Amino acid sequence: MPRKKLIAANWKMYKTPEQATAFFRDFLPLVAGHSRDEIAVCPPFVDIAAAVTAAKGSNVGIGAQDMFWEKEGAFTGQISTAMLRAAGCTHVIIGHSERRQFFGETDDTVNKKLKAALAAGLTPIVCVGELLQEREAGLTEDVLRRQTVNAFRGIGAVESAPITVAYEPVWAIGTGRTATPQMAAEAHRLIRAEAAKAFGEPAAQALRILYGGSVKPDNATALMSELEIDGALVGGASLDPKSFTSIVKWGM
Ligand code: PGA
Repeated sequence: MPRKKLIAANWKMYKTPEQATAFFRDFLPLVAGHSRDEIAVCPPFVDIAAAVTAAKGSNVGIGAQDMFWEKEGAFTGQISTAMLRAAGCTHVIIGHSERRQFFGETDDTVNKKLKAALAAGLTPIVCVGELLQEREAGLTEDVLRRQTVNAFRGIGAVESAPITVAYEPVWAIGTGRTATPQMAAEAHRLIRAEAAKAFGEPAAQALRILYGGSVKPDNATALMSELEIDGALVGGASLDPKSFTSIVKWGM
């Protein structure tokens, strides 16, 4: 069965609730009735309520950009999966390279978050990807293997079904440099092979692997046409309704 692609927006630290509402006012009519691919938007936490209200009844799911694995407690500044569900989220990004680089995210915390997200019934988007120095040193495969093996640790084949992975080479994020469709496909095959070891072949075949890193309207079609690429995680180009629409409607 072909995998349904997911085109997801990662707004990072951009937009107020009012700006989020304005985005959806312009974006929703542009993608109304579009059902070829799944669409999700991940705004900052404080925009989630406005985004859920604006996108209610539409074909666009709302996700968070991070979460904490504990159910509740004295964890100042953290947000639980139950809170995200109650707020109307369906998706959550886990282990984005910016969180790994600037906020102490590790392979171990990614694994804890992934298990908690699955237990809560959220669709996790787990980010992996090598740094420029790692690619230049020939370490891409080692890094991707380490990140995926550790992320998947202790998760069974059945529970793994909702997992979505995003391959985001760190040197391609926000830089205007993209991996070629071939480079991405190669990384995706390696990730899928690790998934097969962890979850078995059928689950690995069903696993969606997105590409992220400077996906733009003018390169989306080439990337999304690649059989191994099951969608996109889009940063900069997702902030504008028109440019995100052209990515959602790649090839049309
Ligand atoms: P970018 O970000 O599209 O701005 O490169 C992608 C991401 O970090 O998810």
